[in-house]
Amino acid sequence: MAPRLDLAVIGGTGLYRLAELQDVETQQPDTRFGAPSGPVRIGTLHGRRVAFLARHGEGHSIPPHRINYRANLAALQALGARRVLALNTVGGITERFGPRVLACPDQLIDYTWGRVSTLCEEPGTEVVHIDFGEPYDRALRRELLAAAAKAGVPVVDGGCYGATQGPRLETRAEIARLRRDGCDLVGMTGMPEAALARELGLEYACLAIVANWAAGAGPDPDEVITLQDVLDNVTAATATLPGLLAAL
Ligand code: HPA
Repeated sequence: MAPRLDLAVIGGTGLYRLAELQDVETQQPDTRFGAPSGPVRIGTLHGRRVAFLARHGEGHSIPPHRINYRANLAALQALGARRVLALNTVGGITERFGPRVLACPDQLIDYTWGRVSTLCEEPGTEVVHIDFGEPYDRALRRELLAAAAKAGVPVVDGGCYGATQGPRLETRAEIARLRRDGCDLVGMTGMPEAALARELGLEYACLAIVANWAAGAGPDPDEVITLQDVLDNVTAATATLPGLLAAL
C-alpha cells in the first residue's frame, strides 16, 4: 500500500505544475486502465503530502475526449489519494460567473458522448449504479469553501457545470441551450471524471476557474474567444491558488 496522500490535485488548461510543491518526486504508474496523462508529481505542501497531475499532459497534448480519465484517477488512488481536487478551466454562462471568477460547483449536466465513463466496462465486471444526485463530495466542497474564506479568496459557492465534448468551443445556440438547462459554467473535462471518482470511492470536488464568457454569454455577444485570453485569465485567477491550497 502506498503511504497516504493528503490531497491529489488535477490541473486543467493553463495549470501544468504546482510551483509550491517541495521535495518533489515523480511517478508514472501504469494502471489496469493504461497510463495516466503524464507524470504524477508528489511533494510536500505546508507539511502535507500532495500529488499533482496535469490532466491534458504537461505539454497540453491530450484533448478532452482522449484523456484517460480512468487511468488518471486510478493512478492517483494507487499512489495513496483519497481526496481529489479537480481544477477545471471553464467558460462562464450566468451573471455571477464572469472571467477570473473561481467557483465550486455543486451540480453538473453531462453533454459528453463516446467517452469511457464507467469502470464496469469489461465483460464479467459487476455493474454498479452509483448514487450521483450530489455529484461532488459534500465534505470536501465545504472544506474548500472554508479554506477559501480563511485565505480571503472569493470563491462562488455552487453552480451547475455543463460538460461538453469539445475540443471546439460551443456555438451561441448551444450556450443558450445550456443556460436554459440551468448550467452556469461550461467545460470539457468535468465528466466522466467526477463519476469515475465516485465509482472509485474517491472524495472529489471541483474548483472551476472561469477563463472567458462562454459564446454569446458576455456583454459583447460578438466577442471571439482566444486561447491567449483564456490563458491570461487562468493565470490571473489562479494567483490566489497557493493561498487557498495552503489554507486547505
Ligand atoms: N467552453 C468550454 N470549455 C471551456 C470554455 C468554454 O467557453 N472556456 C474554457 N474551457
